[in-house]
Amino acid sequence: KILILDFGSQVTQLIARRVRDAGVFSEVYPYDIGDEFVRNYGASGVILSGSHNSTLEGDSPRAPQAVFELGVPVLGICYGMQTMAAQLGGKVENGKVREFGYAEVRARGHTKLLNGINDFVTDEGHGMLKVWMSHGDKVLDMPQGFKLMGSTPSCPIAAMADEERGFYALQFHPEVTHTTQGEAIIGRFVHEICGCKSDWNMPDYISEAVDKIRAQVGSDEVILGLSGGVDSSVAAALIHRAIGDQLTCVFVDHGLLRKDEGKMVMDMFSKNLGVKVLRIDASDQFMGHLAGVNDPEQKRKIIGREFVEVFQEQAKQLTAARWLAQGTIYPDVIESAGKGKKGQTIKSHHNVGGLPETLNLKLLEPLRELFKDEVRKLGVALGLPHDMVYRHPFPGPGLGVRILGEVKREYADLLREADAIFIEELRNTPFEVPHVPGIDAGKAPTNWYEATSQAFAVFLPVKSVGVMGDGRTYEYVVALRAVQTLDFMTAQWAHLPHELMGKVSNRIINEVRGINRVVYDISGKPPATIEWE
Ligand code: XMP
Repeated sequence: KILILDFGSQVTQLIARRVRDAGVFSEVYPYDIGDEFVRNYGASGVILSGSHNSTLEGDSPRAPQAVFELGVPVLGICYGMQTMAAQLGGKVENGKVREFGYAEVRARGHTKLLNGINDFVTDEGHGMLKVWMSHGDKVLDMPQGFKLMGSTPSCPIAAMADEERGFYALQFHPEVTHTTQGEAIIGRFVHEICGCKSDWNMPDYISEAVDKIRAQVGSDEVILGLSGGVDSSVAAALIHRAIGDQLTCVFVDHGLLRKDEGKMVMDMFSKNLGVKVLRIDASDQFMGHLAGVNDPEQKRKIIGREFVEVFQEQAKQLTAARWLAQGTIYPDVIESAGKGKKGQTIKSHHNVGGLPETLNLKLLEPLRELFKDEVRKLGVALGLPHDMVYRHPFPGPGLGVRILGEVKREYADLLREADAIFIEELRNTPFEVPHVPGIDAGKAPTNWYEATSQAFAVFLPVKSVGVMGDGRTYEYVVALRAVQTLDFMTAQWAHLPHELMGKVSNRIINEVRGINRVVYDISGKPPATIEWE
């Protein structure tokens, strides 16, 4: 197993993730966990993470000295490299220019870590790596015993190694995907240098997570707000695997769910998995409070507040509960750590997670270290249906932000039907994979639902004139939105095939009484957002 010591970098969990991808078990601990712990841990290798600190500051963090005395390989990344240099007798200086972003590193010397790994070879025969850098300080003098392993014009010592002692250090970040050989480098370190086998997989993860949950909650009762989304669903399935009936899920139906969603959630959890789920039909309460409200922010606040209200009411009745479980995943952890520093609120996000401290419950967040795609794999391994686990994201306020202006039950009913038709046709339309050399067609989407990141219908409360049969109609408009994005921060509108759009439009107008016009949204984000409100 690999011990990762965290110096507070935003991407430390990515290191853990890459090590997991290499099929090797790893754990992240704070850098100041102590010599004793490090000696007794039984690591086959240690990785020192990056940090926003500078080793040149007096009280900057240091790796436990035991790390360098264990006799196992150590990989220092960015700050990890600098502290390795400083602790072993080298010298670090404050770089005049901060280096941030793409760089090309020339691999020098033959080391086990980088030998044979490169992105391209120059005319002079130098192997080059395309990497991602983010640092101010840099190593000026290597400690004794080290040799140069890589350099860039502005950072002459960009990688170094003392192979005798098994110490390796990289100024760039192999854990981020922008470093194209990062996976290969980390794989090389854990497999060939540390000698770890790739024998760790999802079932192992499940049994470790189950043990951890059992140890954490003991015989206490746990409640969980189930939204039907991927994260809370996977958390529920995992916790249920660990503690069975000690878990009670509360599923609040605010009347703004997609078609058949409530039934699907109940069937899957209650019937198939045998999870205790209380379904609370609170649609009257939500609709009542939303009546007459047009402002998007106010709508979001009301939905968030009512959600908490309903949940709290239920929680109070479950008097034995000591824990509140949430499907918080790693990107949420980063995002909320950055809160307060960030600028303006574009939209106040509502998550099932936003529950108040007054509940007096301890938090159980078993997915905190996982990335979305890992959560999905975990869900499938726990027996959740593939289609459910690979669904597009759905916002907490549900259809509430897809009905422009005032929310009415009648609008929600129309929207649900239109949206279901759109999604059904996306799923039924094959996606022709353009042949891209080097892209593994096995991972390519097979239909248009998979080829888009998010797709939905939006209800516009305006009426337009139409003609159906011999008669004039005067009915509502539905807009279709489909986007492609990796991170949901920026997005492009999807170039759906015209035949597909035509079919969806025909079906909606023919099948949904009350809609006589369908339009397609061709705005990118930015300047638009993905949702309309
Ligand atoms: P926008 O509209 O801001 O959406 O471009 C980006 C992504 O976030 C989702 N979204 C939400 N998710 N609670 C959520 O859990 C919310 O309040 C919320 N608002 C937007 C949106 O569906 C898209 O995936």
